[in-house]
Amino acid sequence: MGERRDAVIHPPTHPPGARCHSSIHPSIHPSITSPCPVSTPLSTPLATHDPTAMSASREDQLTYLFGHATSESERLNFQQELFNALFPGREYVHSAEYDVSRAHRVLDTATGTGVWLERLARDGQGGKRLPANVQLEGSDIVLDKVTAKGTPIDFSVHDVLQPFPQEQHGKYDLVQMRYVLMAMNSEQYATAIRNLYALLKPGGTLQVVELDPRPAAPRNETEHFIKDMFDGLWSRANKDPPGICRDMQAHLRTAGFSSVHVQTSSWPWGRVAQEMGLSKEVMLKSVANTTFAFKALKGPILFFADKAPVAGVTSEAIFDQRAEDIERFYLEIGFSSDLYIGIAVR
Ligand SMILES: C[S@@+](CC[C@H](N)C(=O)[O-])C[C@H]1O[C@@H](n2cnc3c(N)ncnc32)[C@H](O)[C@@H]1O
Repeated sequence: MGERRDAVIHPPTHPPGARCHSSIHPSIHPSITSPCPVSTPLSTPLATHDPTAMSASREDQLTYLFGHATSESERLNFQQELFNALFPGREYVHSAEYDVSRAHRVLDTATGTGVWLERLARDGQGGKRLPANVQLEGSDIVLDKVTAKGTPIDFSVHDVLQPFPQEQHGKYDLVQMRYVLMAMNSEQYATAIRNLYALLKPGGTLQVVELDPRPAAPRNETEHFIKDMFDGLWSRANKDPPGICRDMQAHLRTAGFSSVHVQTSSWPWGRVAQEMGLSKEVMLKSVANTTFAFKALKGPILFFADKAPVAGVTSEAIFDQRAEDIERFYLEIGFSSDLYIGIAVR
């Protein structure tokens, strides 16, 4: 790759005019039936969006539990700010030793908005920049959340549960997969890790980041509700963030990486961010992000309201009341949960 290009979006595994959904295994994502739309950046502040504005009767909500929330892009972009505040000096690759100036080809899978690639290219890390001719690529099952612009990134449609095209194998210095917890269980996660391993050059690095968003030891009624809600929803929707976190190290080792390091850090939910030394501004963003994430689960939770209610939520009114309580709780107290970061070298 010589000159830098404008961001381009293309489904690489399809002939021209093919629809993006054709590379996605129907059992994985039966709902994707339209060509990849590219969203424009959101101009309205997060707080004014209604993340609950979606139908509760659509089974496709259960594939990726945040999938149909409006303004998901803005939430994801906020999240990168939290990473920046939490990991100064290792904002993007969470290892002090990693030298970004040696990453010539980089892929962010399940990229969402592309914010990680965009900011890494803009800011560098630890005083180092990516090489001038770096090749930046982002892939996702659907590209409707992409907001990255002004940075030359090749976006393509790919489901990490499927092997990547042979021509990508052994070609990357750095690959990331972050926050797929609402989209899979631990067995599927192992499949994804194997698929990512194949992409790396010998000596290439995989970074995986996931979160168990539950309060580890609930201290009050609200925290019990949050835990019960997540546990109930995941068991019904066949997702397993705690299992993904628990098994991360084993899956990396089994895939064949020569060096595997998994670390845990605290991830703030609400006011606790300030106690962790972050600014009030970051704390307020954390509250907004957290509340938004909770409200985005309204559709999936109401989907089960009649037949198998999640944590006693049998109606929209109950959900809305809970959402109000939870927002207040995050603003006044909050809690931290465990963020798992795996750095593995092929
Ligand atoms: C919570 S978002 C995280 C986005 C981004 N990694 C970040 O940290 O900002 C999860 C992303 O995973 C994508 N996704 C879900 N299942 C996937 C799969 N099987 N293969 C590829 N991407 C997937 C979703 O479309 C969504 O963009």
